[in-house]
Amino acid sequence: MKKVNLSPNPVSLIESMRDIGYSLETAISDIIDNSITARAKNISIRFDSNASDSWIAIVDDGIGMTEDELVFAMRLGSQNPLKERSENDLGRFGLGLKTASFSQCRRLTVLTQINNVVTCAKWDIDFLANQTSNEWTMCLLDEQEVENCGILLKLRNTYLQNNQSGTIVLWENIDRIIEKNRAHTREQSFNEALANVKNHLELVFHRYLSPQPGESKISIYFNKSPLEAFDPFNTKSSTELRSEKFTYEQSVIKVQPYILPHHNKTTKTEWKKYAGNQGYLHGQGFYIYRNRRLIIYATWFRLIKKEELTKLLRVMVDIPNTLDHLWKIDVKKSNAFPPYGVRKELQRIIGKIEFSGKKVYKQRGQRVTEKTIHPAWKRVAKNNQIFYQINKEHPIIVKYLEKISENDKENFENILSMIETTFPRESFYSDSASIPEEMIGNTMEKKQIESMLRIFIGDDKISKTKLNEILQIEPFASNQEITKTVIRDFGYEL
Ligand SMILES: Nc1ncnc2c1ncn2[C@@H]1O[C@H](COP(=O)(O)OP(=O)(O)OP(=O)(O)O)[C@@H](O)[C@H]1O
Ligand SMILES: [Mg+2]
Repeated sequence: MKKVNLSPNPVSLIESMRDIGYSLETAISDIIDNSITARAKNISIRFDSNASDSWIAIVDDGIGMTEDELVFAMRLGSQNPLKERSENDLGRFGLGLKTASFSQCRRLTVLTQINNVVTCAKWDIDFLANQTSNEWTMCLLDEQEVENCGILLKLRNTYLQNNQSGTIVLWENIDRIIEKNRAHTREQSFNEALANVKNHLELVFHRYLSPQPGESKISIYFNKSPLEAFDPFNTKSSTELRSEKFTYEQSVIKVQPYILPHHNKTTKTEWKKYAGNQGYLHGQGFYIYRNRRLIIYATWFRLIKKEELTKLLRVMVDIPNTLDHLWKIDVKKSNAFPPYGVRKELQRIIGKIEFSGKKVYKQRGQRVTEKTIHPAWKRVAKNNQIFYQINKEHPIIVKYLEKISENDKENFENILSMIETTFPRESFYSDSASIPEEMIGNTMEKKQIESMLRIFIGDDKISKTKLNEILQIEPFASNQEITKTVIRDFGYEL
């Protein structure tokens, strides 16, 4: 048998790997994962969009690497994904540093310091393309070569002084952020992309940025300004439901559901903040954390539908890295799918909490019709159909009908039917679902209340019991203060 060594062509392979689906934010997150695993306490993302040759650097004060470790780290597939990792390791494939970087830039330089020894290595796709051979040639830079690279030198002098261990990952020849043929300038697209990165990192690493007592804190700086944790559960104002733990393949999975505050219970600014870019309907679901790092979020894994009634429900799920192979974690750490046994457990838990999430809305819905003894509208549920009707037994309507002629009576009833049947269902549903905070209840004017009250009491004197009853009838129930003033104007004491 003749054996043939078929090593892949480095340029073709790297060029193809560039398109495995990283976005700028998932790529930077993958580099930050490495810094966190290297026990960094401070991570800085620096970038320059103004220069004709823009660059991005991710710098950490972690444990750094020796030369051997750096050379090993720069190899594609430096570790076998099946190998067991330490509990706090956010890595899995031995690929992230290279694949995330190549997805955004053509030149990756890593400078690292440990025990006062600096090592620097570089992968350059264009250098590989210009070689005559098919070799995977990585360059190790000496001191002079580092000094010749202005950005690298500046970053090193800023961050790795005084024997400080740490690592700088520098991306140059960034060719992916700037979309071609766009009206935007280079700087605009660059800054727009980085603004997205900021929001993404504040969410994905929020449990490191703002840890629980006893957990380690990590600060991330974005061109010197510190990132602020974005807690998608708004834990301070949400209702925390009972947490659950279950064991799967000897690993413990923790589930903590939250019901976010209803828009009536929060300010407009806060409501908008926690709606996120895509709104509450989209934001509901499981938020899966692997070692406190958010991997996938706002999904029910097809166990239930994303419904209006469950839109305030968000469930924090903590999984350990021991289950990576079963969750099908992808290289970008932005996707995962629970194994069958876990899905079953999650389904059982949703079964319990779904009801609590819906209650927030159902109770509010019922209030429309139950709080007042004589509502103006009736919610009728019949034969699996729900419709809203004007309450024809409403005392004011009854009184009014008594007063008018048979002919007018018929006209009036037809007018009521017209209002009922032309209720703008679709736009009402869409507005209350997408911008509930902007939906305001109509109030009546004093003159209108006065006229309604006259119809209701007619020429009768109002007894004490009748007075109390009035405030439970619409529209008086929803306009209590004006109604009380009118009653007083009529000469009654309340
Ligand atoms: N900032 C850093 N500080 C110290 N060591 C690092 C740093 N970045 C990478 N390394 C080392 O380089 C190795 C390779 O990193 P890489 O991101 O390619 O793979 P990984 O983190 O092991 O797995 P994954 O592909 O899942 O990210 C890491 O395992 C780690 O040992
Ligand atoms: Mg990694």
